[in-house]
Amino acid sequence: MDFSGKIAFITGAANGAGLGQAHVFGRAGCRLFLVDIRADALATAIEQLRAEGIEAEGCALDLTDRVAYARVADRVEEVYGEPPHLLFNTAGVFAIGPTEMSRYEDFDWVLGVNLGGVVNGMVTLVPRMIDAGRPGHIVTTASVGGFYGADAVAIYSASKAAVINLMEGYRKALAKYRIGVSVLCPMNINSNIGLSSQVRPAQLRASGYVVDDATTASLQGIFAHGMDPLELAGHVKAGIERNDLYIIPYPEAAVPVRQHVEDILAAIPATSTDPDGVASRTAALENWARDRDEIARRRSDQAPGRVVRQRQEEAAR
Ligand SMILES: NC(=O)c1ccc[n+]([C@@H]2O[C@H](COP(=O)([O-])OP(=O)(O)OC[C@H]3O[C@@H](n4cnc5c(N)ncnc54)[C@H](O)[C@@H]3O)[C@@H](O)[C@H]2O)c1
Repeated sequence: MDFSGKIAFITGAANGAGLGQAHVFGRAGCRLFLVDIRADALATAIEQLRAEGIEAEGCALDLTDRVAYARVADRVEEVYGEPPHLLFNTAGVFAIGPTEMSRYEDFDWVLGVNLGGVVNGMVTLVPRMIDAGRPGHIVTTASVGGFYGADAVAIYSASKAAVINLMEGYRKALAKYRIGVSVLCPMNINSNIGLSSQVRPAQLRASGYVVDDATTASLQGIFAHGMDPLELAGHVKAGIERNDLYIIPYPEAAVPVRQHVEDILAAIPATSTDPDGVASRTAALENWARDRDEIARRRSDQAPGRVVRQRQEEAAR
């Protein structure tokens, strides 16, 4: 992909991985539209990028606010005259604590931003990208932690597992529109993620976890050794150029991921234990896939972009 002149929409762009992406894709010639819940840090980031000669616009956005997200999508089209070619669902929050102490507020916040924010990005922007009829690419940041559960960060890992799975599905769905989909799975980034509780909304403040200075300092100690966001964004750029589904530039991820996949495979019996069942269930799925394709062909007048646009226009009337 030639990035020059492409519009890149980046969430979580005020800090860390998102800011690294803004620099790398801005330097590659993209025109940027940046959003983040931290308005001041975002304004500083935009200033820095512009000082480098990068075309950058943006505004504060809480990704969990669907109405505001749609307004920001309109704003991108006002500013640049068309929807983004590149969507980076990068923003995320992190919470750590004994899983068994989790409260609904812990779930609502972490799933709301890490999964809900991505859902809102996809539902808001994908139809617009399809309607624009140009090739594009979407990169969503999950985590290596999304490949396996972990006791102290179960909600975070679950949010990332959902995002990985969602991107696997979207990749298949969007290939016909020439929109590639990748999922970035970092292991450790040198970022502000250890300070996530600063952007936790007041109504979801109640937590089953203790977030004190000692916890924050110990998290900062881990993330201080993380990959530099610029280096990570360089891997993302290469991943888009190769149209990789998974972008996992961390060699140390191989051991836990391999162990997890082996544990899953070990739970699956050999075909020889139930050959007739395998044959009939497989045939049923193949028939269903053929029927589904036929139905989709008949409904080709209902291109998803157009249908969703219509829905939005109806809602606005
Ligand atoms: N730091 C790591 O070690 C690590 C590891 C694996 C995955 N990740 C993922 O990388 C992504 C980027 O995180 P980072 O490490 O750069 O952290 P970061 O905190 O430096 O950046 C995340 C940004 O998201 C923004 N944000 C938080 N809630 C938001 C909301 N509701 N709406 C809009 N913006 C919001 C924050 O203000 C922040 O600027 C996240 O999805 C994170 O889960 C990070």
